[in-house]
Amino acid sequence: MQSLRVDLGLRSHEVHVGAGLLDELGATVRRAGLGGIGAALITDTNVARHYATRAVESLKRANFAPTVIEIAPGEASKSLATLATVYDRMTAAEIDRAGVVIALGGGVVGDLAGFAAATYLRGIAVVQVPTTVVAQVDSALGGKTGVNHPRAKNLIGAFHQPRAIVADVATLATLPEREYREGFAEVIKYGAIMDAAMISDLERDLDRIAGRDAAILEAVVARSLMHKAAIVAADERETGIRKILNFGHTLGHALEASAGYGRYLHGEAVAIGMAAAAALSEQRAGLDGREAARLVRLIERAGLPTAMPPEAFRDADFISALRLDKKRADGGIEFVLLDHLGHALTRKLGVSEILSSFA
Ligand SMILES: NC(=O)c1ccc[n+]([C@@H]2O[C@H](COP(=O)([O-])OP(=O)(O)OC[C@H]3O[C@@H](n4cnc5c(N)ncnc54)[C@H](O)[C@@H]3O)[C@@H](O)[C@H]2O)c1
Ligand SMILES: [Zn+2]
Repeated sequence: MQSLRVDLGLRSHEVHVGAGLLDELGATVRRAGLGGIGAALITDTNVARHYATRAVESLKRANFAPTVIEIAPGEASKSLATLATVYDRMTAAEIDRAGVVIALGGGVVGDLAGFAAATYLRGIAVVQVPTTVVAQVDSALGGKTGVNHPRAKNLIGAFHQPRAIVADVATLATLPEREYREGFAEVIKYGAIMDAAMISDLERDLDRIAGRDAAILEAVVARSLMHKAAIVAADERETGIRKILNFGHTLGHALEASAGYGRYLHGEAVAIGMAAAAALSEQRAGLDGREAARLVRLIERAGLPTAMPPEAFRDADFISALRLDKKRADGGIEFVLLDHLGHALTRKLGVSEILSSFA
């Protein structure tokens, strides 16, 4: 097992990564300083089937009285309607201020349960127990929680840091192949923006990763979280350096919006976005062409797409998604580029500058 600390002043907390940690969940929650009895274990039906019983047993051994709250799997559950049913269940279970929410699942469960914890009784503790690669290397850490609005993703939310994160890499064994692979887009991202040696290690270890080897997963997840922890500690509210985590995301989000949500998984769109951002980095930030090619090759070897559909840059929805991004950033898109593999910078670029680079 590896443990690391996220330094956030009073909101500092530990992160534990390893195989089999689910069976020690209750003891870990106690060690994080939670002394109550009530525990709302929020999960989705897919995850519950595999892991709810073990989590419940472990919580009981640590003298919690857990209530399991199951939601339907999928992005549609990240809604105000589902949130309302979660509040109902928490109230019925008489979860009080000393109680804790345990978010057992992927990013959907983590974001929804984290927001329920942020708002119930004006905020109670949450422990994140991520079970997808996306959630383990990205969404569980950083305190962003929330639900979607019919008009925009993640429109309603709050920053609410977890009291602990328990990433049991053995749970990744049951993840469907496509969802498993998807998560490695974010892993490769950390290497691309801040750790050149990680790129070499991923090149070396990709076969073991594909085989879901627990030891290699522990190393990869812990290293990813170490990088995210460093960035979040430096810029919790994303006013500066945290923006580099958006590498591959500007064009990735535009592609998700134009292709219709559901055609690409988020990680697949980000993979394509990173390949395009690498090309733009050659033009605009002096990235060596061989380093750009190396990044693209790694993404491909990880089983992820890299080719932007050529019609995307002419697609009205794609362009309007970019314009929306520009509006938010006030005057230009803060585009994340690489000057070297392993080092990122941001540049303000206009929408037409971006589009003409790919013409
Ligand atoms: N808060 C953040 O900083 C942040 C960052 C990135 C993504 N997100 C959010 O995360 C969400 C996506 O998360 P996700 O990719 O984990 O998707 P997800 O939570 O929908 O999980 C993907 C699928 O895998 C299933 N599943 C989860 N764990 C499993 C396991 N161990 N075995 C078998 N099946 C399992 C789920 O039931 C679901 O069907 C999006 O809503 C996104 O906005 C948030
Ligand atoms: Zn992402």
